[in-house]
Amino acid sequence: PKVTIVGAGNVGATAAHIIASKNLADVVLIDVAEGLPQGKALDMMHMRSVEKFTVHVTGTNDYADTRDSDVVVITAGIARKPGMTREDLLGVNAGIMKSVIGQAKEASPNAVFICVTNPLDVMTTLAFRESGLPAERLMGMGGVLDSSRLSFAVCEKLGCEPAAVEAWAVGAHGEGMVCWPRFTTVDGTPITELMDEAAVAEVVQRCVKGGAEVVAHLKTGSAYYAPGASIAKMVEAILGDTHEIMSVCAHIDGQYGIDDLYMNVPVRLGRDGVEEVVEFDLDDEELAALRASADSVRAGLANLPE
Ligand code: NAI
Repeated sequence: PKVTIVGAGNVGATAAHIIASKNLADVVLIDVAEGLPQGKALDMMHMRSVEKFTVHVTGTNDYADTRDSDVVVITAGIARKPGMTREDLLGVNAGIMKSVIGQAKEASPNAVFICVTNPLDVMTTLAFRESGLPAERLMGMGGVLDSSRLSFAVCEKLGCEPAAVEAWAVGAHGEGMVCWPRFTTVDGTPITELMDEAAVAEVVQRCVKGGAEVVAHLKTGSAYYAPGASIAKMVEAILGDTHEIMSVCAHIDGQYGIDDLYMNVPVRLGRDGVEEVVEFDLDDEELAALRASADSVRAGLANLPE
């Protein structure tokens, strides 16, 4: 199989590295910066001789080289710096997303598309509107990363290993993020039974602020190792047709009482993209929180330039 990654910056190159290391697919890195994708691809091809993986990585500035990809990942755009929210990136990144999605779709009309550029839910909606792609073949990566940050916070708090944890963070990939402690478990036991309310609130905050915590340390940009791994996990589920359920920015069309909106919810992933939005049995409070998160995405959409 062939995976194109648009944007050979921190997130795109890291995703390419992990996809190649796992031998999942040939990777084409494309960027507007001349030399950047070529240099990073060559470096990864040198690594290929160390690691002995068999897939190839190539770098280009020309969409012709991305032709007939099975999956296209879009990471092109600016990242936030300390003090910025993901929502602050909207103006610049909307222009970039518009220019990318049309060219990427023209080269690979049958691909499954994964948007990564922030603000994620708004950019994925924009890509949907601009491209006319079927909703099941266009999604965003946010919830896998957010859930990994929740899992990390639980492990730190309880001293357990990630393998024991199933964590669910959903909703907007931004200030309106939602965690589901009742469905977040350690060896099958909900964390709401393993810690008091204050501790639950603490791990939820650690998750919601996880991205900002990384930005505050780095100062130069935002996270890329966990984002890269989260992209690779989605690519693996799609190419492997695994039907795995994970938190993905998907088109919600009536589920959870939310209409026509892109946001992170549990979905089943397979070779054709989103197979279904999975509805968890939420209580009134959880439903209200998810709908409030949807409202935060709608507020972002209202700020999209025409
Ligand atoms: P970066 O600055 O390291 O890389 C971005 C790359 O995009 C640069 O190489 C740039 O030349 C390229 N680019 C700009 N315009 C382009 C165009 N029109 N076509 C092709 N390439 C273009 O940034 P980084 O850290 O890789 O982040 C990329 C994006 O991903 C940001 O918007 C960031 O906020 C977002 N992000 C999203 C996450 C998520 O969970 N959804 C997680 C982490 C980052």
